[in-house]
Formats: sequence, C-alpha cells, structure tokens
Amino acid sequence: MKKSVIAAVLLGACTAWAQTAHFSGVWKANLEKSKFAGPPPGNYLVLIDEQGPKITETIGSTGLHGDQRAIFTYTSGGARPSRNTLMGMPMQTTVAMDGAALKLDSKVATEHGGTGMETWTLSPDGNVLTIVTAFKMGEHGTEQTVVLDKQPDSDGDALRKPEQTAGERFKNVQIAKDMPASQFIDMMRSFTWSLGIQCDHCHVQGNFASDDKEDKAMARKMMTMTHNINESTFDGHQEVRCYTCHRGQHEPQSRPAFQ
Ligand code: HEC
Ligand code: HEC
Repeated sequence: MKKSVIAAVLLGACTAWAQTAHFSGVWKANLEKSKFAGPPPGNYLVLIDEQGPKITETIGSTGLHGDQRAIFTYTSGGARPSRNTLMGMPMQTTVAMDGAALKLDSKVATEHGGTGMETWTLSPDGNVLTIVTAFKMGEHGTEQTVVLDKQPDSDGDALRKPEQTAGERFKNVQIAKDMPASQFIDMMRSFTWSLGIQCDHCHVQGNFASDDKEDKAMARKMMTMTHNINESTFDGHQEVRCYTCHRGQHEPQSRPAFQ
C-alpha cells in the first residue's frame, strides 16, 4: 500500500516534470485556425525555450511598423511574479502548471487596469500548442486563440539573430539609434501612457519621421535628460523614467497646486 502511494507520487512528479519541458521549440501560428483579438498579423512565429522553471518566449510577427519582436521571460512557480513589458506597458505575471496546462496570470499597468489569463495546452502528440488568452481592460473583455504548429528548429534562426536597430529601420532616429526596432516602438508606446497622450501629440499624422511638432523636439531633450540622470546618479540603471515625473500627465506638476 505505502509503496504504491510513493510510486504514484514519484510517477506524478516525473510526468509533471516531463510535461513542463515540452513547450520548448519553434512554433508557427496556423492563421486559419487562430482567432486574434486585433487585426491578424501577416506572420506569427514563437520561439519557446524552457530551462527548468525558466521560460523565455520570443514572438516574431509582422504588423503595422514592420517586423515586430517581443521577448518575455517567466519563472514558473516562482515566489515573486515575473516582470515584463507588454507593448511598452509594465506587466506582472504569475506562472504555474495547472494539470498539464500552463497558466499565465498577468496584470498590465494600463490606465483602467488590464488583466490577461493565458492558458498553454499541448496536443497529445506534442505537435500543436494552443494558447488561449482572456484579456480584460476595465469592463471590456476579449478572447484570443492562437493555434501553433511545431516547426523544425532551424525555422527559428531568424528570431535568434539580433534584430534590426531603430537607426536602420527608421528614417530620422537621432538618439535611440542602437535600440532594437521593436523595443523602440515599445518605447514610443510607453511615452503615450507615461504622459497620457496619443502618438499624434508628438507626431504629424502619417509622417512619423517629420520633426514639425515641438513636442517631439522636447521629447528628444527629455530622453537625453533622463539618460543623463540615470548615468550620473544611478550607475546607468534605468531608475528614472518618463513616468517618474510625468505620472500620466504631459505637464508634470513641479510645485504643489495651492487652491
Ligand atoms: C512624447 C513624444 C512622442 C510620442 C507620444 C510618440 N513619439 Fe514616436 N518619436 C518621438 C521622438 C522624440 C522620436 C525620435 C527619437 C530619436 O531621435 O531617437 C520618435 C520617432 C518615432 C518613429 C521613427 C520615425 C522615423 O522614420 O524616423 C516612429 C515610427 C514613431 N516615433 C512611432 C510612434 C508611435 C507609433 C507612437 C504612438 C504609439 C509614438 N511614436 C509616440 C516622440 C514621440
Ligand atoms: C525629472 C523629471 C522628468 C522626466 C524624467 C521626464 N520629464 Fe518630460 N517634463 C518634465 C517637466 C518638468 C516638463 C515641463 C512642464 C512644463 O513646461 O510645464 C516636461 C515636459 C515634457 C514635454 C512637453 C509637455 C507638453 O505637452 O507641453 C514632453 C513632450 C515631455 N516632457 C516628454 C518626456 C518624455 C518622453 C520623457 C521620458 C523620456 C520625459 N518627459 C521625462 C519633467 C520630466
């Protein structure tokens, strides 16, 4: 009796371990079977690398601003939530196995508080990975299902190479030239929520390269100022960000507002 219980526990532990290792690989979305929450991308490739409880997910897709890459790192069952950014917005995720499925429970720091519950499930033969995500933004909820087919490992090579820089991709980048292009677009998105504005506060509609708006010039000065503060005072660590002063407002308050 006792022996069989121990055997069952050991067997259970072994299968749980084996299951978690199976998400690794190169996965390509079957666009016909998938249902994206937004406009469907032209191409959607996911590279998953699992090392024990550490999971690195690299998503390559083609969208409005060319090839876009997003990298997320998670620790499954960790004591503290994993931290990433989602389209430039800070995100915190708790990751745990739920039976054979992996559950990623995320909070995103949007104005109205966003949440996302992702469920990763593998087909019995391990060749199809289905990722279902239930998003919620305030009262508004949407669901996305991405069905991914396993690809030969070499198909992931494009995502393993360093990405094009912002200086190479765009026409008029002067300060953040060496930043990977996707990270640059995410930084743009972070400007919008940090200052509570839209892209066109700094950009002429339809011409992102134009320098005609004063706020774009001001933003360049602010990028340099923020960089210098971090270099001179915080050993180059990004402690001060746009949000530190702006807190969702384009004109931060430097003095108390006496009524
Ligand atoms: C607070 C001002 C500000 C906001 C808001 C902003 N941008 Fe920018 N954007 C800039 C600045 C400054 C640059 C140039 C950066 C540099 O020189 O390194 C730039 C450059 C760009 C470029 C490169 C254009 C080129 O060809 O040179 C793109 C593309 C871009 N922004 C897209 C966006 C998008 C999309 C949004 C909204 C999600 C956005 N920006 C919001 C300030 C802003
Ligand atoms: C150390 C504090 C601080 C940081 C960090 C900071 N700003 Fe500012 N920002 C200010 C102050 C103060 C003003 C001036 C407000 C005024 O003129 O009333 C300002 C003004 C601006 C303006 C002009 C606002 C308008 O609409 O009139 C833009 C655009 C801007 N900042 C962008 C940024 C961006 C982008 C970042 C991050 C790269 C950033 N700021 C980081 C303090 C800061």
